[in-house]
Amino acid sequence: MKNLTLDITKAFNFVSKDEYNALQTKALESNAALYDKNLPGNDFLGWVDVKNIISEEELSEIEKKAAQLREKIEVLVVIGIGGSYLGAKAVIEALSNSFAQMNVKKGNPIVLFAGQNIGEDYISELMDAIADKSYALCVISKSGTTTEPAIAFRLLKAKIEEKYGKKEAADRIVAITDKSRGALRTLANSEGYKTFVIGDSVGGRFSVLTPVGLFPIAVAGFDIRQLLQGAYSVEEMTQKGKSFEENISAHYAVVRNLLYKKYSTEILVNFHPKLHYFSEWWKQLYGESEGKDGKGIFPASVDFTSDLHSMGQYIQEGVRLMYETVISIAEPDKKVEIPSDAQNLDQLNFLAGKRVDFVNKQAELGTQLAHLDGGVPQIRIEIPKLNEYYLGQMIYFFEKACGISGYILGVNPFNQPGVEAYKKNMFALLDKPGYEDASKAIRERLAK
Ligand code: PA5
Repeated sequence: MKNLTLDITKAFNFVSKDEYNALQTKALESNAALYDKNLPGNDFLGWVDVKNIISEEELSEIEKKAAQLREKIEVLVVIGIGGSYLGAKAVIEALSNSFAQMNVKKGNPIVLFAGQNIGEDYISELMDAIADKSYALCVISKSGTTTEPAIAFRLLKAKIEEKYGKKEAADRIVAITDKSRGALRTLANSEGYKTFVIGDSVGGRFSVLTPVGLFPIAVAGFDIRQLLQGAYSVEEMTQKGKSFEENISAHYAVVRNLLYKKYSTEILVNFHPKLHYFSEWWKQLYGESEGKDGKGIFPASVDFTSDLHSMGQYIQEGVRLMYETVISIAEPDKKVEIPSDAQNLDQLNFLAGKRVDFVNKQAELGTQLAHLDGGVPQIRIEIPKLNEYYLGQMIYFFEKACGISGYILGVNPFNQPGVEAYKKNMFALLDKPGYEDASKAIRERLAK
């Protein structure tokens, strides 16, 4: 079986080999700390030993409930935000037919998302769109108290109970939450929902290979065992005790920390629109893990070639603040050849008989050369195909690299204290009980 490959040779025009060699020991120590649990954030390392992230019993339960729902629903609405949303969205989007919404039927349901925003039009239009469909809900919240999904679930719970009655609705609701704490656990227990547990030792952004990601992905019809197999294979390559040469996550962690000395932004680039949400997942992973204590590479993303017609100008000639990490897919699933045309008015006959992907690959190479000439260092990741196994490899590759990179940077990659600031202000503005002093203070501040 082939593996994900990482090419950092194009970064060596911008960072020195000596610096790279010098950081290898630190990277291996950081990797070891993820296993030894002796650095900050050590309570949240349950994802590292990915072979034990989920039991066989729980995996079978997930597959069983997913199969039961797949037979009777056309739509699953997954309610969650941040780490309780982006992993499932990324994998489902990457593996689904781009036009799956045009072929909705029982046995082949689509997955929609709610509670990942507070857009009133969004939730209203979603409720209208699913009203005459057969649907189920999967509500995911580790804390069980996050405002955005809690509002969406309150609204959708009322709708599903109105449509099916309380008993059938309860059979169509799955809750994924803490094993004993939080409002969602209390509700799930009292209403008799099927539940899956988010373990204490896995933070939201590292939870895609737990029921948080696996259940929605299974309902969408994808092979969650292959996803896990891919992750296992990278864990094996990057285990404590492996050499630096073998540990591809350590290579990425080292090179990005060296680039960070001159470049503040990393752009994750894809040439396949199905990877758009994979980039969104990656942005949360790195943004929440490293952006703290006044430090951290800013994670950005683009979808090429679309964004070459928008962001391309800036990347080529704007402020030199970024390097790129390109995800390349060696072989797409489908084959489409460009036909010959008798008139050739568009002058494209030189491409007749060539695959669309051949053109895409030349765009990729041309962009790489142009951006290197423009002073943009490049890291390249290649996967043989976009399937469950290689997505599993990429997920674990980036998670492990994130842990190593955060420790090299000198931050705790597993907390997110900054996420609370907006919540405190929002609750004060909403006059949430318990926030009386904060409400008074914020009103005085706004009146000035
Ligand atoms: O990574 C994180 O911890 C966050 O993005 C959370 O996943 C997000 O805030 C949702 O939290 P919860 O699952 O508790 O509703």
